[in-house]
Amino acid sequence: MIALPALSALLAATLSLELVGVNAHGPHAHAHVAHKRQLAAASSGSASVAAPTTSATSALAATSAAATVSTAASAGTTSAAPASGPATTAAAGSAIGTGSYSVPPLESISVGMPSGAIPTLTTTYTPGASPTYLSGAPPLPTKFAFSSADWPELDKIPPTDTDQVKQWMKELDGHDIPDITPTQDGSCAGDAAAAAQAQERGWWTCGGYTSGNDIVSCPDKMTWGVSFDDGPAPYSSQRRKKLLQYLDDKDISATFFVVGSRVISYPDILIAEYMAGHEIAVHTWSHHPLTAMTNEQIVAELGWTRHAIQTVLGVTPTFMRAPFGDIDNRVRAISNAMGMRPIIWTTGPGGPFDTNDWHVPAGSVTAQEQYSIFQGLLGNATLMDTGFIVLEHDLFEITVDLAVGYTLDAALNHKPAFNLESIGQCLSLNAGDLYAETATTNVSTVNVTSSGTNSSSAAATGGSGSSGAAPRTAVSVSALVGVGAVLLASLL
Ligand SMILES: *[C@@H]1O[C@H](CO)[C@@H](O)[C@H](O)[C@H]1NC(C)=O
Ligand SMILES: *[C@@H]1O[C@H](CO)[C@@H](O)[C@H](O)[C@H]1NC(C)=O
Ligand SMILES: *[C@@H]1O[C@H](CO)[C@@H](O)[C@H](O)[C@H]1NC(C)=O
Ligand SMILES: *[C@@H]1O[C@H](CO)[C@@H](O)[C@H](O)[C@H]1NC(C)=O
Repeated sequence: MIALPALSALLAATLSLELVGVNAHGPHAHAHVAHKRQLAAASSGSASVAAPTTSATSALAATSAAATVSTAASAGTTSAAPASGPATTAAAGSAIGTGSYSVPPLESISVGMPSGAIPTLTTTYTPGASPTYLSGAPPLPTKFAFSSADWPELDKIPPTDTDQVKQWMKELDGHDIPDITPTQDGSCAGDAAAAAQAQERGWWTCGGYTSGNDIVSCPDKMTWGVSFDDGPAPYSSQRRKKLLQYLDDKDISATFFVVGSRVISYPDILIAEYMAGHEIAVHTWSHHPLTAMTNEQIVAELGWTRHAIQTVLGVTPTFMRAPFGDIDNRVRAISNAMGMRPIIWTTGPGGPFDTNDWHVPAGSVTAQEQYSIFQGLLGNATLMDTGFIVLEHDLFEITVDLAVGYTLDAALNHKPAFNLESIGQCLSLNAGDLYAETATTNVSTVNVTSSGTNSSSAAATGGSGSSGAAPRTAVSVSALVGVGAVLLASLL
């Protein structure tokens, strides 16, 4: 049963999304969508972590806003969310979420719920240590010390008129970077002219277009290439048995697409992920839509994130994921020229594979609905000839709770069971191939598309046209309003 206060909170959140959406001229507008639990967590976190986290609250809000924005991708799915019994799914969830990971019952995971204590790391690593699984890896660098003079402003698109960016721009020399004008705001509805050219642009956001060079799935059937976006964040850490502990217990490696601004805010958590055998890849500096940026800004976003990771870990990632999946042929060419091959999530039967976890802290979907939608996704995944990759997040306590207590367990307990691996593992890459310093093969030329997809310059199979579109649009706003109506109808 859903208590009335919870319902009001849900509707209030939906309403605020709607209002913000109406006023939005870009993703930033969504920064107003705050949720008590996450903000409380962020501010208490900043007390216990290093210098840059002074802005953790706004950073989290901004990223959550970003997450909110990216939802539009599945706004259609959302409004079509099975209103099928919250009671049934809650029961299933309670049975599946084990008690040993400090995860609340599914029905109590919601916006505004009391925040748990910030987890802390149980294992820390000293400079000079090397990851045992990564042959030839450089030792961990000197302990990271933040100095504001060394870095661009957190969560803002970095300035391009700097020596660093000018130096990184030289990496594009000799590469064919398509002359595609930046989109207005990375959304389909925000730029009708660009939308009309979506196929020529190879624009994923608007029509689901991919290139043969994109990693869009895992080759082997029933294999889930597990990834988490937007961290590193404190809820990944081991204490209180959260994400890293769970992955360790289940012997699962995952791929973390990290935001540069978070890397220098939580360097020890990044180190813990890397040293535990997880893969680290680039997810930009500020988490803004890349197709809306100039070439120089894209280079700055990727370059600063790569530099942050290299400074903290001593290694340089060879893969990236565009925030919101907002990628086109220009962004791809720049990423590849800088030595970072794009990875996106699978478009399966029924649309893009999204855990919808970010909808729950955004207040637009309940945890029970999220879990129910995810079970549908797993059902769809069994129909595919290949494996798959799904959008999932580790920035928020709620999304970590959903992963640890529910989605990962659902896949492991599924009959037949899924095989959970990192994306590099599912592609049969060597661990060293994830980083420039240790690579033995050039990942930009590895042929991994043959077994998975056949999408070069064609729409992603199964993608229902603009269903891949980012949400910051009138369409998505009405979809969210629709969600409110659906929820009302199903709950009252
Ligand atoms: C699963 O596939 C069905 C049929 O195509 C679709 O309606 C549904 O939205 C899909 N769900 C997910 C989560 O992929
Ligand atoms: C990898 O291959 C690409 C495409 O041939 C090339 O541009 C790039 O320089 C190569 N990278 C390395 C590190 O050799
Ligand atoms: C990549 O896979 C495709 C499809 O199987 C194949 O035709 C092509 O020759 C392969 N390319 C390389 C470089 O192995
Ligand atoms: C890929 O698609 C092209 C064009 O539709 C087709 O000719 C080719 O046979 C496909 N290749 C594979 C491996 O499915």
